[in-house]
This record gives sequence, structure tokens and C-alpha cells, in this order.
Amino acid sequence: MPTIETYNDHVVRRFLLAAAVWGIIGMGIGVYIAAQLAWPALNFDIPWLTFSRLRPNHTFGVIFAFGGSALMGTCYYIVQRTGHTRLALPRLANFTFWGWQLVLVLAMATMPFGITQSKEYAEPEWFIDILTAVVWVSFGTVFFATLARRRIQHIYVANWYYGAFIIAVGLLHIVNNLALPVSLFKSYPIYSGTVDAMVQWWYGHNAVAFFLTAGFLGMMYYFVPRQAQQPLWSYRFSIVNFWALISVYMWAGSHHLMYTALPDWVQSVGMAFSLVLLMPSWGSAANGLFTFNGSWHRLKTDPAAKFMVLSLVFYAASTFEGSMMAIKTVNALSHYTDWTVAHVHSGSIGWVAMITIGSLYAMAPRALGKPEMHSQRAMELHFRLHTAGLLLYIVSMWLAGVTEGLMWRATSEDGSLTYAFIDSLVAIKPLYMIRFFGGVLIVFGMVVMAWNLWHTAADARARLIQPIPVPIPEPAEHQVPAPLPATN
Ligand code: HEM
Ligand code: HEM
Repeated sequence: MPTIETYNDHVVRRFLLAAAVWGIIGMGIGVYIAAQLAWPALNFDIPWLTFSRLRPNHTFGVIFAFGGSALMGTCYYIVQRTGHTRLALPRLANFTFWGWQLVLVLAMATMPFGITQSKEYAEPEWFIDILTAVVWVSFGTVFFATLARRRIQHIYVANWYYGAFIIAVGLLHIVNNLALPVSLFKSYPIYSGTVDAMVQWWYGHNAVAFFLTAGFLGMMYYFVPRQAQQPLWSYRFSIVNFWALISVYMWAGSHHLMYTALPDWVQSVGMAFSLVLLMPSWGSAANGLFTFNGSWHRLKTDPAAKFMVLSLVFYAASTFEGSMMAIKTVNALSHYTDWTVAHVHSGSIGWVAMITIGSLYAMAPRALGKPEMHSQRAMELHFRLHTAGLLLYIVSMWLAGVTEGLMWRATSEDGSLTYAFIDSLVAIKPLYMIRFFGGVLIVFGMVVMAWNLWHTAADARARLIQPIPVPIPEPAEHQVPAPLPATN
């Protein structure tokens, strides 16, 4: 009997599990630092438990550990199915899993002890950066080698986004981390002063663009049509948006450095490109949402689809907010305040986390060889917890941000400041407590998801006593632009 070739989902399942575990760790640390901002005594005077040491652990944990594991897992899943082929270089793919987990553990273990480059979202020291570069190049090699052996001529749009994400993140990581090591745990960047700031925010902003946006758009372009059970609303529009997004994003980074020593015209270029950026951002959000036209009834019964639809709404909302915040006069109010934190989390808990969770719920049963998740009710509960927590988080931080901005700029008749800084902290303390409570709900939802995934895997293992291999479909004669795999 000829052996049936099946997709390699071994490594996909590992990344899936890692994403769930890191999600709980990263967001759990977020809740802890949120509690510290409301009740500072919670740092217990222990240096490695202080807010400043744990904040990068939170950002690294959620962006690179949770987001990164989800992106790599879904990338391997999607490139196989859209190319009707098996993953190339399986050993290297396994190395990318273990290598990436090593990078994450080393980064998370060193940062609380102050071993850091002090560059936001690029904190790990040089020896971790080198390992990261090696793993990233390996990841790219597996992805592009799989793409090269595809049995479908057309490259589905999700792969374009994943490809751009892999190339751009590699470039950003290497350029921003060029440094001279002086010991194992200490290095100095080759840039200094304003140039250092510009390179850092070219990196920081494009980490948002290519890590937190392009990669997740790849996820969206595959799983949204899959879950809506119909082709993408407009395939052509998705390609137009792709080229617009990647060509505009690179020039917007200076909006992070408004009113600084950066030349004024560079700040204005950042503002102008940020406004243009709204078009491709809303283009993709609209394309995803319109794909549900004719399928809206699925929202009544399918929590994964609900996560996806709400994620697209938050993608549209946070990008609109970002474009507005890039206007210099608005930035004069929002910068340094919790408004920025509200924007960040509307993008990350709203867009990034929700598209990831929706996609994991769509992918997990298939990757585990089961018809559906263990518990639909648990998925529903997760959706409610996440949505409630998200709204508590961002509404409280919007209020806190505007309160801070207005109090800091208020002046008395004689020109002196009306409020001392401490007054603004006292005013927003209740809002910090609400944010903490919202975070607790979100982490609780993540625990429910991990429980559900665990039981889905257990059910699958029980069934797998008699494995039913899912064959890779033969390529069709005429390729449709949006191949929705029929069997898996
Ligand atoms: C349980 C959910 C979460 C809680 C309670 C939480 C809490 C926090 C807190 C307290 C801060 C520090 C804010 C400050 O410096 O004033 C922060 C910053 C940040 N968080 Fe979260 N977070 C959560 C989820 C996430 C997720 C899912 C992501 C990304 C995928 C994320 C990305 C970030 C980023 C990028 C920053 C830095 C923001 C800035 O510099 O303006 N967070 N978070
Ligand atoms: C059209 C798209 C977007 C534009 C034009 C934009 C613009 C901005 C602006 C103007 C700031 C404030 C800079 C400052 O005052 O310091 C900001 C901060 C930030 N945005 Fe966005 N944003 C966009 C989309 C997003 C999305 C979708 C996410 C997350 C998924 C995101 C994540 C962040 C983060 C993490 C920061 C804080 C950076 C820091 O200071 O540490 N942005 N963005």
C-alpha cells in the first residue's frame, strides 16, 4: 500500500502549546505590574521584582514569546496547506522551535537581573541577539524552502505577509542590535545620541508594523475565510493593501519622537506617512469583515469567528487612533500619558491577542486531528472574559491618559502649573485598579483556553490509537486565488 503523505503538524502543535503557556506567563506578569502601579508596595523592595525590571519581561513575554510562538506555528501550518506540500527541512523546523524557546527563556531570565541593552522591545544582550538571528534565519529558510516546493503555482496572500514579516524583522533585528560587547553581559550600541534614538524607533515602530501587524494579517487572511467558510471578499484588494502597507510603514517611525532633538522635517514626514497608513490598515480590516458577509449568522454559534470579527474591529479602531495620535498637536497631549498605553493594548489585546486566539481555536482541532475543540462553552466563556477585560483595560486607560494630559498642561493665572505631578497620580489611581481587574479577567480567560486545548489534545490522543492520516490534496488544475483546503 503506498504511504500517504500528510502535513507535518508536529512542530505546529508544539508552537501552539508554547503560545498558550507564554500567553499566560506574559499576561500574568502584565497583571502583576498593573497591580504594582496601583499598589507600589507590591514590589516588596526586591530589585528583580520592581516594575522597571519586570515591565520588559511583560512586553517581551507577550510580543515575542506569546505572539512569536503563535506566528511561527501558524506560519508553518498555513504554508503547507496553501502550497499543498509538506514542510521542508523538518529538522531545521524542530531547531527553530527549540532555538526560539531557548531565546525566550534566556531573555526572560536575564532581564529581571538588569542584564539589558535598555532598548525598548530589544532588551536582551548581545549573546541572545546572536542566537535570535540564527533562529530567525533558520525560520526564514524553512518557510521559503517550503514555499519553493509548493505544488500550487499561486502564492496565497497570507504567505506574502508572512514572508514580509520574516524578512523585515530579520533586517530590523540585525541593524538595531549592532553593538560592541565589553563583557558577556554588557555591550554598547554602535549608534549614539539622536541617531541611536532614530534607529531604535525605526526598529520599535516597525516591530509593531511587521511583528504585531504583518504577521498577524497573514494569520487573518488565512483563518478568516476559513472560519467564514467562503473566499476572501476581494483578493485583488488584499494584494493592493499588502504593497501599500509595507511601503508606507517603514517611514512612519519618527512619530515616536515628536518634539525631540530629531529634525523637525523628519517628525513631519513621520506624521504624514502615519496618516496615509490609515488607508491600507482599514483596507485589510474591511476586507476581513466583508468576508463575513453572508456568514454573519455564524457569530451566533462560533466563538472563534467572534474573536476574529472583534479583532478586526479593534484593528480598525487602534490604527485610526494611532494615525490621530501621530498628528503633532494630538501627540502633544497624548505622549507620556496612559493614552499611549490604551492605544497599545487596544492594538495588542484587541487586535493581536484576539486574532491569535480565534486562529488557535480554528487551527487546534485540525492540527490535532479532531473535528472540534473539547468545549464550546469554555470558548464562549473565554470570549466574554476577554472582551470584558479588554474594555475595562482600554476605557480606564483612555480616561487616565486624558486626565493626565489635561492636568499636566493646566496653568494658573500667574502661569505656574495648577497641579503637582503627584496630584495626577492620585487622580488616576482608581483607574489603575480597574485596569488591574480587567487584566485578571483576561488572564483567567487564557487559563480557560489552556484547559480547553489540553483536553482537546487529550481527546485527540485517545482517538489517535487508530490514526486516520489526512492526505495532502492533489493540486487542482485551475488554481483559485484563495485555496481553502477541503479536507484539513
Ligand atoms: C492581561 C493583559 C495585560 C495586562 C494587564 C497588561 C499590562 C501592562 C502594563 C501595566 C504595562 C505598563 C504600562 C506603563 O508603563 O505604564 C504594559 C505595557 C505594555 N504591554 Fe501590556 N498588558 C496586557 C497584555 C498585553 C498584550 C497581550 C500585549 C501584546 C501582545 C501587550 C503589550 C504591551 C506593550 C507593547 C507595552 C508597552 C507600552 C508602552 O511602552 O507604551 N500587553 N502592559
Ligand atoms: C495606522 C497604524 C498605527 C499608527 C499610525 C500608530 C501610531 C502610533 C503613535 C503616534 C504612537 C505614540 C507615539 C508616542 O507618542 O510615543 C504609537 C504608539 C504605539 N503603538 Fe501605534 N499606531 C498604529 C497601529 C498600532 C497597532 C496595530 C499596534 C499594536 C498591535 C500599535 C502599537 C503601538 C505601541 C506598542 C506603541 C508604544 C510604543 C512605545 O512608546 O513603547 N500601534 N502608535
